[in-house]
Amino acid sequence: MKFFIDTANLDQIREAQELGVLDGVTTNPSLMAKEGITGRNNILKHYVDICEIVDGDVSAEVIATDLKAMIKEGEELADLHEQIVVKVPMIRDGVKALKYFSDKGIKTNCTLVFSPGQALLAAKAGANYVSPFLGRLDDISTDGLNLISEIRLIYDNYAFETEILAASIRHTMHVIDCAKLGADVMTGPLSAIDGLLKHPLTDIGLEKFLADYQKGN
Ligand code: G3P
Repeated sequence: MKFFIDTANLDQIREAQELGVLDGVTTNPSLMAKEGITGRNNILKHYVDICEIVDGDVSAEVIATDLKAMIKEGEELADLHEQIVVKVPMIRDGVKALKYFSDKGIKTNCTLVFSPGQALLAAKAGANYVSPFLGRLDDISTDGLNLISEIRLIYDNYAFETEILAASIRHTMHVIDCAKLGADVMTGPLSAIDGLLKHPLTDIGLEKFLADYQKGN
C-alpha cells in the first residue's frame, strides 16, 4: 500500500518524507488556499517545491472544466516536473481529458469520485489513479469504505490497472480499513499516518526495558 499525504503544507510533507514511508503527495485547490498559496505562478512554483521534497507522484489539480482548457492546463502542469500527476475532476469533459492524457502518456488522477460507476468510467478512460472520497461519503451517512470495496471488486474482475487512491481519509482507522480492503494507495493528513505508530503497550514496554537496563549498569 502506498502512503500519500494530502496537504500543500511543506513542513508536513518534509516530516512525512523524513519518516521514510511517504510515496507521494496529493493537493487540491482548497489545500493550496489553506496554505495561502494564490496566483497561478505561485501555485506552479509550489508544485515544484513539493516535487523537490518527495520522491513519488505529486497530484496537481486542473481548474479548467472544459476539455480544451483542461488539456492546456494539464500539459502545463505535466511539463513542470516529471513527478506531476494531473488531477482531473469526474465530469464529462474530465473523462475525455483522462483519455487524451492517457494516450499521450501523461499520468492522471481522477478526483471527486463518489460511485462505482464513476470509478469504472475513470478506469476505462485510462486514469492512473482514481480518488474515491470516503470521508465525504461518511459525512453524509453513506458508507465510504463500501465504495472502496465495490471499486476493488470491479477493478479485479477486469484486471484494470488504475490504482485505487482512497482519498478524504480523516483518521487512522480509515487507513487500516482501506488496507484491509485492498486500496492501492491512501492519502490523508499526517495525523492519520502518525496514529499508526502509537500503542501504549509499546511505550510501557520500552520504559520497562530502559529501566531494567539502568538497574544492571
Ligand atoms: O484531496 C482530496 C481529498 O482527500 C479531500 O479530503 O478531507 O477535504 O474531504 P477532504
